[in-house]
Amino acid sequence: MTKRIAILTGGGDCPGLNAVIRGVVRSAVMSRGWEVVGIEDGFDGFLHPEKCRLIGLPEVRGILPRGGTILGTTNRGNPFSYPILRQGQLEMVDVSHEVVSRIDLLGISGLVVVGGDGTLKIALELMKRGVPIVGIPKTIDNDLLETDVTFGYNTALETATDALDKLHSTAESHHRVMVLEVMGRYAGWIALESGIAGGADVILIPEIPYDIERVCAAIVERGRRGGRFSVIVAAEGAYPKGGSRVVREAAGGRSVVERLGGVGELISRELGGCLEMDIRVTVLGHLQRGGSPSTFDRCLGSRFGVKAVELIEADAFGQMVCLKGRSITSVPIEAAVRCLNLIDPAGEMVRHAEALGIMLGR
Ligand code: F6P
Repeated sequence: MTKRIAILTGGGDCPGLNAVIRGVVRSAVMSRGWEVVGIEDGFDGFLHPEKCRLIGLPEVRGILPRGGTILGTTNRGNPFSYPILRQGQLEMVDVSHEVVSRIDLLGISGLVVVGGDGTLKIALELMKRGVPIVGIPKTIDNDLLETDVTFGYNTALETATDALDKLHSTAESHHRVMVLEVMGRYAGWIALESGIAGGADVILIPEIPYDIERVCAAIVERGRRGGRFSVIVAAEGAYPKGGSRVVREAAGGRSVVERLGGVGELISRELGGCLEMDIRVTVLGHLQRGGSPSTFDRCLGSRFGVKAVELIEADAFGQMVCLKGRSITSVPIEAAVRCLNLIDPAGEMVRHAEALGIMLGR
């Protein structure tokens, strides 16, 4: 009987997902003669038979440069706590047994789960119920442990750096302070690396609560040295000393986790109280999640896909593929989700940013 594996993409999308799907399908079908079932919309797809379909070479043709995921995704699809409407009331129900029996019914002997921290934690729970899973790390935030980098991050970084370049020219013309709010819920990697690459004057990250008076003083000092404009990049999860993250929508209802957003406006208001300069805010938002993946992300995603198939072939379930140096290898999923990959405020990257004269809010 032909071996059959499956793949799903879960959580927020990111550039490079299609490269992963293509990598899995091509190496499974072309090198091994296996079948691949594509599960639509994350784990949700298992609850709807029509969302589980065979995907072969025709389905993955031409998808390398495409952003998003041809399988669809959701960041609300947790089968252990699934919203079901009962007598007009929304109840959270454990439907994981339905997922497990669908996997049995489909004859799937290995499931590739592409996701971030939340999705991979669900994968671990399903493994305890006997589902053979291999994980692939995905997130533009780059906040997963045990891999040098996640795919999608590089493309998001390019988008953020490009935005900083554009903001620089208009900031200079108008002698303004421009605040760019980028993604980064708990980890400020996008803000930090794009800030270094884009020549930001101030970088604010969740790992270093900022002191607005010091930020203000740094901008005034820059003015004294002849810098008539300033560019600030702030991660959406950045917050003032003694304060908390700026939440746009609380968790519960339609949001599984709280929706962040608005720190750029907060910084602008705070700076308005101590600076004479004009301040403008740009929120980059989901532009960072969309678009064609960079060369780096296409290559990394493709290699992750190939490695995942190799792991299934070796029955190495419970492993997550990862990049270490220039090699694609693997680690237990458990190790990757034990905590988040945050920036060390005393670490090298922060030190280098400060040595470049960039103000980190402290
Ligand atoms: O996890 C990646 C991320 O981009 C976070 O930085 C951000 O808070 C979140 O996704 C937003 O997700 P969505 O708007 O899709 O719920």
